[in-house]
Amino acid sequence: MEQLAYGVLRATEQAALAAWPLIGCGDKNQIDGEAVSAMRQSLNQMPMRGRIVIGEGEIDRAPMLYIGEALGLGTGREIDIAVDPIEGTRMVSVGQHNALSVLAFAPYGCLLHAPDMYMRKLAVCPDAKGVIDLNHTLEENLRAVAEKLAKPLSQLQVVILDKPRHRDDIQRLNRLGVKVSVLPDGDVAGSIMLCQPDSGLDVMYTVGGAPEGVLSACAVKVMGGDMQAMLIDSVEAKGGSASNQEIAQQERQRCAQMGVEVDRVYTLNQMVHTDEILFSATGVTKGDLTEGVRKIEGKLQTQTLFLNGMDKTQRLINTLYER
Ligand code: FBP
Repeated sequence: MEQLAYGVLRATEQAALAAWPLIGCGDKNQIDGEAVSAMRQSLNQMPMRGRIVIGEGEIDRAPMLYIGEALGLGTGREIDIAVDPIEGTRMVSVGQHNALSVLAFAPYGCLLHAPDMYMRKLAVCPDAKGVIDLNHTLEENLRAVAEKLAKPLSQLQVVILDKPRHRDDIQRLNRLGVKVSVLPDGDVAGSIMLCQPDSGLDVMYTVGGAPEGVLSACAVKVMGGDMQAMLIDSVEAKGGSASNQEIAQQERQRCAQMGVEVDRVYTLNQMVHTDEILFSATGVTKGDLTEGVRKIEGKLQTQTLFLNGMDKTQRLINTLYER
């Protein structure tokens, strides 16, 4: 697995470099398309028998990096691949901070197969490992985390996506007296920050994309934090309109085909049942975790947070490209 590390790093660097000229262009699809194509080309040069388990969507909607696509030179180890070539396409399109290109590798069969739908996620910093349970209420979980961290609720830092669906949740958090930080987008970055010792964050509770949830779980696992998650359908995530009901039915069918369950609590180990993880997140725009792509004396510099689950190392890697 470790022999594939350089290729994993290179793939997120290539996707970030491809998106960089388009920062602020206003076109999310163009940004995603360039990054997807660059990442795919890079992955296809690697000596592995890879298959996408977390990807850009279903084969009929995503021409590249779709769920089930085989990648690599067709030699070597069988690998489960989770990709988000641009985590935060909207942020790149408007030049906002914290957009990343993200990729994770694990041995065949070790990652949860999640379709492109919503997921309820609860993640905690390493010191609060072992006390969360998504079957309990948010309040009960936060009290358990506060007790484990030996701090009052008023000092608990909770991060959540700033989406209309979370209006009530944010009010509940305010009533409980915890400190709330909101992220406009990008819960993979939020999960990683949570596990960094100096972030000051204790808990992430949010409803976001399931693909981002599995990628977050890979990072949280390497970094020693904890996480639980539940696939939820569009009715539960966004309300019971006729179109959401139709989408929810398709989501439930797809889950059944993929062998995963809606409304079931998945633990961290059920989402990622291995320590053989390689995880790479390259900054596209400048952010809390990494610098964005930068031009330095005619060269382009990328910065990547690279996690290796086998030796539990976390590296911040600068690379200069002649361009
Ligand atoms: P992408 O840019 O990869 O699509 O995701 C950005 C993101 O903010 C994720 O971090 C989050 O999980 C998801 O979107 C939330 O979805 P929505 O924008 O529908 O609320």
